[in-house]
Amino acid sequence: MSPIKKVIINNDTKIKPIWIMRQAGRYLPEFREIRKENPDFIKLCLNYQLSAEITLQPLKRFDLDAAIIFSDILMVPYGLDQKVEFKKNFGPFLGDLNLEKASKLDEIDFVKKVYPIYKAINLVSKNSTTKNKNTIGFVGAPWTLLVYMINKQSPKLKLKDNFFEDEFLINRLLVILEKFLKIHIKNQIENGAQLIQIFDSWAGLLNEKDLPNYIYIPTLNLVEYIKTLKVPVICFPRGIKDYKSYCEIVKPDVICIDYNTDPSMIVKNIKIPVQGGLDPKILLSNQENLKKETKKYLDIFKDHPYIFNLGHGILPETNPNIVDYLVKMVKDY
Ligand code: CP3
Repeated sequence: MSPIKKVIINNDTKIKPIWIMRQAGRYLPEFREIRKENPDFIKLCLNYQLSAEITLQPLKRFDLDAAIIFSDILMVPYGLDQKVEFKKNFGPFLGDLNLEKASKLDEIDFVKKVYPIYKAINLVSKNSTTKNKNTIGFVGAPWTLLVYMINKQSPKLKLKDNFFEDEFLINRLLVILEKFLKIHIKNQIENGAQLIQIFDSWAGLLNEKDLPNYIYIPTLNLVEYIKTLKVPVICFPRGIKDYKSYCEIVKPDVICIDYNTDPSMIVKNIKIPVQGGLDPKILLSNQENLKKETKKYLDIFKDHPYIFNLGHGILPETNPNIVDYLVKMVKDY
């Protein structure tokens, strides 16, 4: 059994596997090299040979325990025929959403648009580099995708005052997203994804009273679906204040915590396997500080099933040598 599966299925506390959110990305010169030749990010995600190659890049450098497929949560809005662009130094930029068109879209049309992602997963999971490691597929949570699809760009710190105005649109979109996220998950698993992570990057924007409608219920529907496919699911509700209630209601197999969450509270209150937490900014400081902070997480989760990871994606300005140091340190603990 792979180290990550040992932690999730056997609750093994002796091993501390590691992978890194956004491990395939801009901090690697070999990624930037490919990116330079491929200015259209969506097209790059749809080039299955290149996206498989990019997925494997970090595993060739570091002794990581998982490959996460090089793709994006916004490939689902793209599959639903909403225009998605990535502007330099701005982030994602989406076109207008055509609800009627999205409502009429059928499974075949969607799969046709995003099909290279599944081919890339297939290549990665069969590659010898991933032997005894896991290939992770992923989706954005319905709430986070709803935010991008309606707001059409990153919301930064808060939602627009009229975000919830069109209730019909929001409710309809949640139904559409549930349908197509299930299709996307199923195809990733059928092509070799052995774990699914649900990224809810904007969970922290909601008031407590809105959590059931927009986070708990839609995510629980996906989690229950993934469980029927016999694949473990990791949930990352970034910025949610009450991780304990989230775990009790949504019941993921693993909970990934963000860097503002106190790990000692988590270890006290949460029984299921935990992933992540270290602030990605720590990797921009010095080795001593990184060592101290990494040890803090490893010590706190010493007797708890734990997968080492950061508390959000690795920053583009991170030096790959410090990643090497981090991975070795976790492995030698
Ligand atoms: O983790 C991995 O290595 C796998 C690949 C992956 C990417 N995006 C590649 C990517 C994953 C898992 C994601 C998830 C994702 N995408 C999330 C959830 C995680 C999080 O960060 O909160 C979100 C919110 C997105 C949407 C998105 N895509 C944003 C906000 C950006 C950043 C834009 C920017 O310029 O900073 C992207 C682009 C993106 N996705 C890049 C990569 C490697 C950078 C693209 C580039 O080279 O310019």
